[in-house]
Formats: sequence, structure tokens, C-alpha cells
Amino acid sequence: MRKLYVIGIGAGDPDQVTMQAVKAMRRAEAFFVIGKGAEKQELVDVRTAILREYVDGQHRVLEIADPPRDRAPADYTGVVQDWHDRRAVLLEEAFEQVDGDGAILVWGDPALYDSTLRMVERVLDRGRVRFDYEVIPGVTSVAALAAAHRVVLHRIGEPVHITTGRKLREEGLGPGSTVVMLDGECSFTEVPGDDIHIWWGAYLGMPDEILIEGNLREVEKSILERRARARAEKGWIMDVYLLRSE
Ligand SMILES: C[S@@+](CC[C@H](N)C(=O)[O-])C[C@H]1O[C@@H](n2cnc3c(N)ncnc32)[C@H](O)[C@@H]1O
Repeated sequence: MRKLYVIGIGAGDPDQVTMQAVKAMRRAEAFFVIGKGAEKQELVDVRTAILREYVDGQHRVLEIADPPRDRAPADYTGVVQDWHDRRAVLLEEAFEQVDGDGAILVWGDPALYDSTLRMVERVLDRGRVRFDYEVIPGVTSVAALAAAHRVVLHRIGEPVHITTGRKLREEGLGPGSTVVMLDGECSFTEVPGDDIHIWWGAYLGMPDEILIEGNLREVEKSILERRARARAEKGWIMDVYLLRSE
């Protein structure tokens, strides 16, 4: 049976690609690249650079245009599910054009805030194309953040809570340490208290990487400024941060 490899490629530095990922890439005849529109072309470029570096030129690259979606809908879950359905149809159509094994390169690790595995399961549920799939883990942006700051994510024996900016605003910090992803709103500014430490990173592993660390109240203004400037210059930003009481 044909195989689809769902391959974690790390969070932006091609050197984070594992040997396991390289071996899976070399087995694939075609790569499905889910584009995010022109402003994030740099992310598509990282995947292209990885393919150039680790596999020979005997493969096809099928770009799947990301269907547009409402970013602030009233029915968030419904809109996201509909978007996943439309992506599943596009992946199905792309896989139908290929005879051998396929691969999808996933940013970071497929198990962390990524919908690729759900999309693959939807394609299988639809029953039009039959295949087996295998997941290759990747270096997450959370691991890249911890390594860049040379910090352990939690205190000895304590938990670490991974959440989104939206949930941080709704629910506050978790027990122990909190890692925040997918935060376009700088939600750290809404966390109360003078004794919180932040380890913040943007474009981790990429040439424009920015790292800021310190007492949240003391450094939040400089994070806001650096973040706004970088976002204006590049047209996009990806950042992640760790919060913990001091
Ligand atoms: C859709 S999630 C994908 C996470 C990914 N699967 C992972 O394992 O890291 C995107 C979020 O991951 C974080 N992220 C991913 N890559 C990053 C990078 N190179 N630098 C900073 N944050 C990153 C940001 O919080 C961003 O909003």
C-alpha cells in the first residue's frame, strides 16, 4: 500500500531536520507543500531549502494553496472544521495525481498545534484514496525556545503547561510554568503580577532570530517594540514564550 509520510522538519533551521526525517524524505516520490500566501513565502522557502539539501531532484513538489478562512469568526470551531475539510479535499486531489509514496513537511512537530494529522485522517475517512501513513517527529518551537535561552522548561518535578495566547487571556497561567504559542495579541501584557519571568523568542532558528529574557514588567515594553518593528519589516512574525514566577 502507498504511504504518506508526515514529517516534522523542526522550527526553521534546516539543521534541525533529523536523520529519520531525511530517510523518510528520500522514500517519497512527491511532496505536498501547503502554502500560506505570499507574506509567509519565507516559510515555504525553508521547506524548499530542506528538499534541496537532503533529497535529490527526482521528486515532485505539489503546492497546495491554503484555502482562505475567517480569522475571528463567531463560530470558531465550525469555521476551523470547514477549513480542515477544504484542505483535506485539496490534499486528496494532490495525492490522486501521484503514483508512489508522498510526504508532507510539517513545521516543528506534527503533534503540536498542527492540523496535518487531522487532515490526513479526514482524507482517509472520505475513502477515495487508500494509503498508510507514518509520523516522523520534529524539533518543536518549544524545544528551540528552551535551547536558545538555555533554560529548562519547568522547575524540578513541576509541570509545564502549553497553551495559546487566546487561552492565556481567558484562563491565565497554568500550574508551574506556562509556554504560550500562537499569540498574535501579545497576551503576556495581560498577565498580572510583578514577579513573572519571561523567556521570549521570535523567528527561532532563522537568520532573524530575536531573543529577550527578563522580568516581565521590565522587558514587556521592549518585546512589544521589537516585535512590532520586526513584524512591520518582514510582514509576519512567529513567536513563542515561557512564563514562570520568579
Ligand atoms: C501552528 S503552530 C505550529 C507549531 C509547530 N508544530 C511546532 O512544533 O512548534 C505555530 C506557532 O508555533 C510557534 N513557532 C513555530 N515556529 C517558530 C519559530 N521558528 N520561532 C518562534 N515561534 C515559532 C509560534 O508560537 C507560532 O505561532
